[in-house]
Amino acid sequence: MHSFIYFCYTSKEYISILKPMKRIRIVDILKNPEIGKEINVKGWVRAFRSNRFIQLTDGSTINTLQAVVDFEQFDEALLKKITTAAALSLTGTLIESQGAGQAVELQVATIEILGEANPDDVQKTVMQPKKHSLEFLREQAHLRFRTNTFGAVFRIRHAVAYAIHKFFNDKGFFYLHTPIITGSDAEGAGEMFRVSTLDAKNPPLTEDGEVDFSKEFFGKQVNLTVSGQLEAELAALALGQVYTFGPTFRAENSNTSRHLAEFWMVEPEVAFNDLNDNMDLTEEFLKYICNYIMDNCADDLKFLDDRDNTEQQSKPQNERNELRLTERLQFVANNPFKRITYTEAIDLLLNSAHYKKKKFKFDVAWGTDLQSEHERFLVEKEFKCPVIITDYPASFKAFYMRQNEDGKTVAAMDVLFPGIGEIVGGSQREERLDILLEKCKVFNIHEEELWWYLETRKFGTVPHAGFGLGFERMVMFVTGMSNIRDVIPFPRTPQNAEF
Ligand code: 4AD
Ligand code: MG
Repeated sequence: MHSFIYFCYTSKEYISILKPMKRIRIVDILKNPEIGKEINVKGWVRAFRSNRFIQLTDGSTINTLQAVVDFEQFDEALLKKITTAAALSLTGTLIESQGAGQAVELQVATIEILGEANPDDVQKTVMQPKKHSLEFLREQAHLRFRTNTFGAVFRIRHAVAYAIHKFFNDKGFFYLHTPIITGSDAEGAGEMFRVSTLDAKNPPLTEDGEVDFSKEFFGKQVNLTVSGQLEAELAALALGQVYTFGPTFRAENSNTSRHLAEFWMVEPEVAFNDLNDNMDLTEEFLKYICNYIMDNCADDLKFLDDRDNTEQQSKPQNERNELRLTERLQFVANNPFKRITYTEAIDLLLNSAHYKKKKFKFDVAWGTDLQSEHERFLVEKEFKCPVIITDYPASFKAFYMRQNEDGKTVAAMDVLFPGIGEIVGGSQREERLDILLEKCKVFNIHEEELWWYLETRKFGTVPHAGFGLGFERMVMFVTGMSNIRDVIPFPRTPQNAEF
């Protein structure tokens, strides 16, 4: 009450006593500080020093607002409630800061405690102001948004998503929503999560004792989508250029720092494009995202750049990144990607000193897939830049990829990034119905299941191409986070679907 009266007497804008003052976000206050203005801010306490200086954050920026309290003006009981993580509403005057470290500060006139935070409880959480391991932060994914690192990561994640939509919108692409529940296995890898409404303990049976899937909700077996590509192709063959951007599910049991069971994928698909056009589009797209983040997320990027630099220092010399995070983004934005065929990549590996000294764990041979150690060698040791590998053997790529003249390889492309590995996978699609039908046979795909996809090849079929960007892998690259679980709010991985 004491503080309220104080405010009433000192405020020039006394009209605001009748009408609550409009809250201003900290990002806006700091961007355009109006010295002498009476303002209201709401946020959470990061720190309260000497019963005088509150560092307030509201999530709008990595920067905090310093609020200065004249403790003689307030009840001790009230001041005691200003603890780390408590939520406050403050009004006061914006003044030039008396101290170093910030340009402006808030001279507090009124304090309202919106939500208290018990210091004993805070001690047990990631909100305790000290360095925590990323593993500990993952266990508290519900609270880790409150930390500087995750605030920065998730603001940047948003910016990457926005940049993606902006890039495609500006180029005249249409955003297509493809289904999440589907009957098809687009990638043919069989790594699908089944969606079922049948009673698992007591399923309906057919006469011969098999589970009767015709009794399923959809009258057949369905699963969560592994890719929106097949549906995107249908739309691209009418709308010209489309992209999907949605959740994607893969039940692959890979507990690595680059795999999620639920991740987001961006899949553009363009009629009349061939593999070269596809590579050009990918390269322009990935460069655009890097530039967008450098231009629009400077404060968060600076914080993550320092964080990454500290991490690098704690690694052994030979595992350190030669470039800082921002330099890596600049590098990708400003240098052409190296483009080589799979066959050239195999030759290169076979002729490398690394191979001759038997330093690879897995064998290198034409016709076997590249392992991540081979990809890393090409990107990080041989070329030291993003690499696009094209024209892989048909045998380990999907059925829909366009067969090359040699009859052995397909018009596939993988984009490999330093520190990440495969970030994009794509191809020119097989537009010739006869060859596609042959491929279905080879891959044991029943025509009846894909009749709708095959049918587009009958009505004005044209060359077309597209690719899929692993959204989280891109967010890893631009934030410098080394585990994919730390760039998605609530990671789903084998044995883990908490929150
Ligand atoms: O290479 P993939 O499997 O390609 C497709 O799904 C095609 N249908 C794309 C297309 O041509 N439209 O996946 C594309 C990208 C990978 O390069 C990788 O970045 C990411 O998706 N990805 C994963 N990201 C996180 N966790 C996983 N389990 C992933 N699997 C693939
Ligand atoms: Mg792939």
